[in-house]
Amino acid sequence: MIVLTSNNDTTSSVRSCPRPLGLVPTMGALHEGHLALVRRARKENTSVAASIFVNPTQFGPEEDLATYPRDMDRDLALLESEGVDLVYAPTPEEVYPPGFDTRVDPGGMGQRLEGAARPGHFRGVATVVTKLLSVIKPERAYFGQKDGQQLAVIRQLERDLNLGVEIVAVPTVRDSDGLALSSRNAYLTPEQRRAAPVIYRALTQARQLWDEGERDAAVLRAAAHALLKAEPLLEEIDYVSVADADTLEEMGRIEGPAMVSTAARLGSTRLIDNVLLG
Ligand code: PAF
Repeated sequence: MIVLTSNNDTTSSVRSCPRPLGLVPTMGALHEGHLALVRRARKENTSVAASIFVNPTQFGPEEDLATYPRDMDRDLALLESEGVDLVYAPTPEEVYPPGFDTRVDPGGMGQRLEGAARPGHFRGVATVVTKLLSVIKPERAYFGQKDGQQLAVIRQLERDLNLGVEIVAVPTVRDSDGLALSSRNAYLTPEQRRAAPVIYRALTQARQLWDEGERDAAVLRAAAHALLKAEPLLEEIDYVSVADADTLEEMGRIEGPAMVSTAARLGSTRLIDNVLLG
């Protein structure tokens, strides 16, 4: 496995990789969710590249950039054991050199839900993903359904800018009690960790109503919200959304494919999750 930190070396190394090439972009602190992306990429491509970069532009000033979990040696060992061919692990200066002044703005889609709670977050994501795709030029790129809005933003980015990359969504990996795997779960105290599966239970409750034929989005939102509200350790519920799966616009009646999503805070840890309908 080759590990590279510079854009130029990475671009020339991937040029000699047998195609198709699949890219798994990550911010490190790898868990089974990331490894599911790698395994899918391994199955569908001749070569696999992964990137490890904690992207500063997608963190707000009050967010956890400084404390975000980092363990490069462990991450590299995991990627190597999964048969990854090349890892791109640039420094912030390599990605954002002096004079860097371009941003990719995903528009309205980047301002709803997570975008409203984290202004500028999706501009940072769209900018770095555009850069990663330009440096590595893969045929396919793999993203987790866990970050459902990020996936929708990246699909739109690919479409709008004709990037010519197949965006592949990989289902969320969950612990046995339903909690979606996330690098941020590491921040939870044991007590908070025990309470956290309520998030998935609330989403499943909404999905069950939909399975039973309920098509009023407000009824689904209220049911999920009530379950979350009953958990005293959940200090803040940012939103419970039932939105069109492509545009992420809130629905009244659920007509086509939808995403039920929520963001809630356990202590200072903000967790997000979603389930798809239809
Ligand atoms: O999902 C992530 O880990 C990040 O948002 C991504 C896509 C690697 C961009 O920094």
